[in-house]
Parts: sequence; C-alpha cells; structure tokens
Amino acid sequence: MTDPNLRVLIPSEKIQARVREMGEQISNDYPAGNLHLICILKGACFFLTDLARAMKRDVFVDFMGISTYGKGKTSSGEVKVTKDLDISLEGADVLVIEDIVDSGVTLNYLLHVLQQRKPRSLQIAALLDKPERRLRAVDVRYVGFQIPDDFVVGYGLDHAEKYRNLDAICVLDHTDL
Ligand code: IMP
Ligand code: MG
Repeated sequence: MTDPNLRVLIPSEKIQARVREMGEQISNDYPAGNLHLICILKGACFFLTDLARAMKRDVFVDFMGISTYGKGKTSSGEVKVTKDLDISLEGADVLVIEDIVDSGVTLNYLLHVLQQRKPRSLQIAALLDKPERRLRAVDVRYVGFQIPDDFVVGYGLDHAEKYRNLDAICVLDHTDL
C-alpha cells in the first residue's frame, strides 16, 4: 500500500514471529485446565486468530465488545460493554486479548468486570503497549512490543474504522489526529 500518511513501524514478518513466540510461551505457562481467550472487539481479532493458532493446546475463544467514551483519541474513563461473552468464566484460566494498552482505562475497567465472574486466574496479553501514556495501572502479563507515543494503525488497529487489514503496524501521520 502506498499511503503517504503511513510509515511502517513493525513489519509483518516481525509481528508474525513475535506472535508465534508469545503463543508458545502462553502454551507453556498454561499446560492444563480450561484456557479462555477473550478477544476485545474489534481491534484484537487479528492478533487473537494468529495467537490462538500459535498455541499448542486447546483454547476456548470468546468475544467482548467495549466502547469507551472520550474526546479524540483519549479514553475518558467511561466504559460500556456493548457485546458480552457467551461462555461462563467460572473456574477457568482467562486471558484477555487486547490490541494495545494505551491509557489503561479500558483494561482497568474490564478486569474488574471479569473478576466478578470468578475465573481461576485472569491475565492480559496485548500485542502493543504504550507505557508513556498510562493513566491507570494495569498488569499486562504478555506484551508483544512496547512502542513510543505515536498513533498506530494496522493488524487490527484502526483510525475511524480504516486500516485494520494492513499486515504491518504503521504510524499514522495525520494533521487532524
Ligand atoms: P485505553 O483504554 O486508553 O488503554 O485504550 C485502549 C484502546 O484505545 C485500544 O483498544 C484501541 O482501540 C485504542 N487505541 C489506543 N491507542 C491507539 C492507537 O495508537 N491506534 C489505534 N487505536 C488505539
Ligand atoms: Mg480496542
């Protein structure tokens, strides 16, 4: 794709190699028991499908829709569940699959919601982490890449619903962001 606003930050091959590594690590860390992968829609679904296929064990897959209300690209702290899970989490090892941890507001809220459903364990796997932007503390067990404070798109991440199907993670240089 030749879009003058896009600059490749993490090429596809690097993403694929890191996701395979993460899949193997997670499989080793959860050798037995019911492991539920909870994909946060929509951005994390590309990461979820590659990560799940890199795992050497059975997993349950479920989806959750979340909307955050905020000005521009910053979450305000108000989070709403727009699509809930289909499968009970009681007694299960739960891994929340997220595309990116930015302010931490979304995951901070979500962990409270999911903890009430009595999972045996609850951890997070995020493809990307922007630690500089954190407003709420969140303990992210598995991180694919730490990135600087740039707005990125691709591999699931969007800007106004665009660019999700890029196979690389790209920085979006936009004057109106
Ligand atoms: P948080 O609550 O601020 O951590 O927001 C996390 C959510 O904000 C992610 O799931 C993304 O949907 C969105 N987000 C944060 N940073 C970016 C980015 O650089 N590009 C695209 N979406 C982003
Ligand atoms: Mg998201």
